[in-house]
Amino acid sequence: MTPNWKHYPQTWYAIAIARQLKPKQILSGQLGGLHYVVYRSESGSLKAADAFCPHMGAHLKGGSVVQEAIACGLHGCHIIPQSQDAAAPVTQAVQQGCCLATRAWHVIERFGLVWLYPPAPQAPAIPPFNMVNEHDHLWTHTDRLIAADWRAMICNGFDISHMQTVHQRQIVGEPQFFRLPDSGNRPQGFYMDYQSRVLEHGGWSSAVIQKLSGGRLALRHTCIGTAVMVQSKVGAFQTTGIFATLPQDAPDTPPEQRRTRAFAAIAVPKAAPYARAQLFAARMLYLAFLRKDFGVVENMRMRLDGVADIGVQQVSAFQSELAEIQPEP
Ligand code: FES
Ligand SMILES: [Fe+2]
Repeated sequence: MTPNWKHYPQTWYAIAIARQLKPKQILSGQLGGLHYVVYRSESGSLKAADAFCPHMGAHLKGGSVVQEAIACGLHGCHIIPQSQDAAAPVTQAVQQGCCLATRAWHVIERFGLVWLYPPAPQAPAIPPFNMVNEHDHLWTHTDRLIAADWRAMICNGFDISHMQTVHQRQIVGEPQFFRLPDSGNRPQGFYMDYQSRVLEHGGWSSAVIQKLSGGRLALRHTCIGTAVMVQSKVGAFQTTGIFATLPQDAPDTPPEQRRTRAFAAIAVPKAAPYARAQLFAARMLYLAFLRKDFGVVENMRMRLDGVADIGVQQVSAFQSELAEIQPEP
């Protein structure tokens, strides 16, 4: 394993399907050992904050949403995410309904997913995949827990050699690699453009792709942090798939024991003919494609030293440049 590939890079993480987070509902979790709560206020806006109450440290998932705040379950203070610094200890007496500020996390809703950016000394990177206009597309979503290290899953998205063994695709010509412009002085992402052709014996999904494409597919895979966007042109059909991985485990968990929640947001242009039918077909085809990957990455103990695959080398080099989430002092 390349030691520089961080378990929890400082980046945007998809943590939920947005329509599943209803007003007044609170979600909680951790990223790199930093614990958060995310909730939808009564007015419907998304808020995110440190998980522990600045008063005496009760976990705010046990509270309740009141207007734009969380009323802490222990003493009833209204906790308002607003500062960019960790909250100072509260020394004055508190009473039910008093207001306390706490550290906010950056949270946005994009492509039908809720994305979080852990607190950092620098402003967050620009939102993920901002080159795609989500409002021009129809979207469908799903998520699933997988017994795999997210890094093996992202690596898989750039592994040229597995295209033939797992997906029955042959790469045509040489893949091309490009960097996205940096965000501030941080690397934002990179992408791989390539063409492939469908080989035989790939099952029903490959047969459908072969029929639609006339044999040749043009693809772009863009990696930003722990997520990959796949844009494909299959004959006259264009699809976009965003696959965002959310690591579940402590950094010292052995790779073959790690679990990852994977979110998929799949889209076709609204202007496409029979767009809803196309979206249904795109979803079936992407998920069939991914099922083949899950079979090979589950319980993998990934090692990258000496690997010659150009796609694996490129994604490893990019990942090694990302900063890591800084745990609390
Ligand atoms: S611990 Fe939250 S108000 Fe006291
Ligand atoms: Fe794959």
